[in-house]
Amino acid sequence: SERKFFVGGNFKMNGNKSSLADIVANLNKIDCPNTDVVVAPPSIYLQYLSASITNQVKVASQNCYKVAKGAYTGEISPDMLKDMGIEWVILGHSERRHVFNESNELIGQKVKHAVESGIKIIPCVGEKLDEREAGVTENIVFEQMEMIKNNVSDWSGVVIAYEPVWAIGTGKTATPDQAQEVHDKIRKWLAKNVSDEVAATTRIIYGGSVNASNCKELAKCKDIDGFLVGGASLKPEFNDIVKANA
Ligand code: G3H
Repeated sequence: SERKFFVGGNFKMNGNKSSLADIVANLNKIDCPNTDVVVAPPSIYLQYLSASITNQVKVASQNCYKVAKGAYTGEISPDMLKDMGIEWVILGHSERRHVFNESNELIGQKVKHAVESGIKIIPCVGEKLDEREAGVTENIVFEQMEMIKNNVSDWSGVVIAYEPVWAIGTGKTATPDQAQEVHDKIRKWLAKNVSDEVAATTRIIYGGSVNASNCKELAKCKDIDGFLVGGASLKPEFNDIVKANA
């Protein structure tokens, strides 16, 4: 495929100086120029990571706010991330949506501001279990995609993460067929609602209980261009996931 394989590691709220030093030592062994590798530590450790990574691996924030600066206690902005050399941000992760009640609208505003600020984004979409069981997966994902699309002026720095909520941290991975089906629908949605070119070039990565043993089968799917890895990104097996398409 013309799309470069992309593997993200989302540490979520995990790690300390000691465990992150071990993780970085492992990340520094990655030598895989054909894959984009981006890891997202808790924000207080962004510099700790970016200062100690010696290879191609990039660092991402797990979130950011919708304006550049001001009276928003506890928040950080895309400008601040860029100022500190951070090139990527995850937005609309399911935990932001469902634990912190971030609305689709707020996520759209964050997407708009981040893209306009010139930072690359990994916006996340995905249905909950009851939504899948009710047969509305497509409606939910397309509604989330619509809010992203309405706020993206330049798709060159966008990697879409499809993360079915029922597969996140549960050990219950989507089957390759289940994941491929939604990835295919998202790509066709992009073709219809954005452009054929954006549909053909935008990476759509899968997240939800990806590990070293299930990644190869998932990576074979035509529309799966990589992964957003949670739990397994804290373990040495992350390096095997980076090579899933090899
Ligand atoms: O951002 C990562 C996802 O939420 C997946 O997490 O691999 O622990 O299921 P997980």
